[in-house]
Amino acid sequence: MKLTYFGHSCFLVEAAGTRLLFDPFITPNPLAKGVDPASIAADFILISHGHVDHLADAVDLAAKTGAKVLSNWEIVEWLGKKGVANLHPMNHGGSVRLPCGRVKMVAAVHSSALPDGSNGGNPAGFVVETGEGSFYYAGDTALTLDMKLIADEFRLRFAVLPIGDNFTMGAADAVRAAGFCGATDVVGVHYNTFPPIQIDSATAVDAFRNAGLTLHLPAIGGSVEF
Ligand code: NI
Ligand code: MN
Repeated sequence: MKLTYFGHSCFLVEAAGTRLLFDPFITPNPLAKGVDPASIAADFILISHGHVDHLADAVDLAAKTGAKVLSNWEIVEWLGKKGVANLHPMNHGGSVRLPCGRVKMVAAVHSSALPDGSNGGNPAGFVVETGEGSFYYAGDTALTLDMKLIADEFRLRFAVLPIGDNFTMGAADAVRAAGFCGATDVVGVHYNTFPPIQIDSATAVDAFRNAGLTLHLPAIGGSVEF
C-alpha cells in the first residue's frame, strides 16, 4: 500500500489496484499550494464529516476524477444537491464492498455541520480492508474506547490519526489511540494547518517512539509505502 499526503487530513491510498482519496481539502490550504488537484486520480473519495477542512474540494474532484463519493447519508444528500452524481451513502457500523476489499464506517467523537450550516450527520472514521492489508483513518476525533473494537476485528498495517490537538486529540492521546486500535505505524494528520493546531513535530515523533511506535509525517506531496 502507498499513502500520498496532500496536507491537513487529505491523503490518497493506493491499495490492491484501487485509489482511495480521503477528505479533499487542497485549494484553500496555503501549505498545499504545491499540490495540483488536477494531477490527482481517484476511484473513490471518502469524506469523514461535514467540516469544510475535509470536503472543500470534494465537488470539483468528484467531477474531475469521476470517483464515487462515500460518506454518511446527510453529506451524500448535500453533495447530490451540489451536482455530484456518483455517490454512495453509508452510516456507522456499515460496510461497503470495494474492488480492493471493503470499507467500514466507524465512530468518531467530533461534530459535523456542513459549510452552509446544513446538518452533516455524525462524524466518522473508516477502516479499509484490502488484499494488501488494512488501515484505519480516524477522521477528526477525540480518543475513544470505540477504537478498541477496531483491534478486535482488524489487523492494521497502519493508522492515520489526527495529532494537532485543540479540535481533535493531540499526539499524546494519538499514542493511546494507536494502542487501542492496534497500529504500530501511524501517519499523523490534522496539524500545523491553522494556528490553533500548530504542534512541535519532534515532540510528537518522540512521544510515539517512547511508546515503541512509529509516527510518519510525510511532507506535503510526499509518500509512504506500507
Ligand atoms: Ni472537523
Ligand atoms: Mn478538521
